[in-house]
Amino acid sequence: MSLVPAAVLDPAAGLRVEEIATPDDLGPGLVRVAVKAAGVCHSDLHVLDGDWPATEPLVLGHEGAGVVTGTGAGVRDVAVGDHVVLSWFAPCRRCADCARGRPWTCSGTRSLDNRLPDGTVPSVRAADGTPVAPFLGLGAFAAEVVVAESAVVPLPPEVPFEVAALIGCSVATGVGAVTNTAAVRPGDSAVVVGCGGVGLAVVMGLRLVGANPVVAVDLSDERLEAARGFGASHVLRGDDPDLVARVHALTGRGADFAFEAIGRPRTIELLPELVAPGGAGVLVGMTSYDATVTIRPFDLADAGKRLLGCNYGSSIAQVDFPRLARAHLAGNLPLGDLVGRTVPLDDLGSALDDLRAARGLRTVVTFG
Ligand SMILES: NC(=O)c1ccc[n+]([C@@H]2O[C@H](COP(=O)([O-])OP(=O)(O)OC[C@H]3O[C@@H](n4cnc5c(N)ncnc54)[C@H](O)[C@@H]3O)[C@@H](O)[C@H]2O)c1
Ligand SMILES: [Zn+2]
Ligand SMILES: [Zn+2]
Repeated sequence: MSLVPAAVLDPAAGLRVEEIATPDDLGPGLVRVAVKAAGVCHSDLHVLDGDWPATEPLVLGHEGAGVVTGTGAGVRDVAVGDHVVLSWFAPCRRCADCARGRPWTCSGTRSLDNRLPDGTVPSVRAADGTPVAPFLGLGAFAAEVVVAESAVVPLPPEVPFEVAALIGCSVATGVGAVTNTAAVRPGDSAVVVGCGGVGLAVVMGLRLVGANPVVAVDLSDERLEAARGFGASHVLRGDDPDLVARVHALTGRGADFAFEAIGRPRTIELLPELVAPGGAGVLVGMTSYDATVTIRPFDLADAGKRLLGCNYGSSIAQVDFPRLARAHLAGNLPLGDLVGRTVPLDDLGSALDDLRAARGLRTVVTFG
């Protein structure tokens, strides 16, 4: 067993950094990764805040990148020394959804149960030996993780670890929402409600495909300024009582696409009003499990409007992550600009406070 520092959320005792023990012998199909960078995403905060209640001790973190340091029997996709991004939705590669090229709806994954593919958890708490489950099969707020082979995607070593980490969640989700889920075309109009790490990646994706106009909406002036820098042609405050009318004035009859990247019922309910007839609202933000929304179905049917659910940017990790990395290296997707503060694991609490208060850009935890 090796002892490594990790951010463990204990439902009974809260979040703290402590040592966990990871196994020396890797089972078949497993990969050990020395984590170098892990972004702090609102999905971690959803667990911490009880929107998605934790029922067992969990190592949080799911937006990570690092270097492969060991492989179990049968692993062929990566080798020791490879730089990899972690994918929080390790597909089974056997079910009908995987076979039809839709791994983001895989029915065989155990990631959403915070398990490895064989149903086990790899690590225990050093203090008392109790199992500690990896959030989404990763638990990336740890210096070392043991994950499924289908949860690692090699990237060129020229991609900085901070950028690679963001490709593993906010970028794959935000850019993928544009290019995959919505398939936005040049000249389509769009509005993005919520400009945190995910929403700003949506804005970047919209610039990449040449959408126009692109209207960014947030409550934070700092985030709105960032959105302008990343390609938004207009910015509006989310508490503007005339928000819908202003979006219509800027886009004609409403936007072709409206992205909600917060996970708030009230802003989700706005989507049908923000889009033009024939347009689509895209649900990128995640609500609490039990949230419900009220929409007028007549308006949707009558005007041919659509609502699209977006899990992980409808991404095929093995295809889309290297594609995003290439776009970054070619200068077409300046992903480094999405990185805010970098902090050591011991400062995760302050990074989560910043996320809750919508301060700064994406904070990334770095490991030496
Ligand atoms: N669909 C997926 O696969 C997927 C993947 C990753 C994250 N997510 C979800 O996406 C959401 C956003 O994640 P994030 O990390 O970018 O969060 P974040 O906290 O960084 O960003 C949320 C943004 O929304 C803004 N906001 C809050 N209330 C607002 C309002 N009323 N009007 C306008 N703006 C408002 C905040 O100021 C902030 O900038 C979360 O729910 C997260 O769980 C979904
Ligand atoms: Zn995330
Ligand atoms: Zn599958």
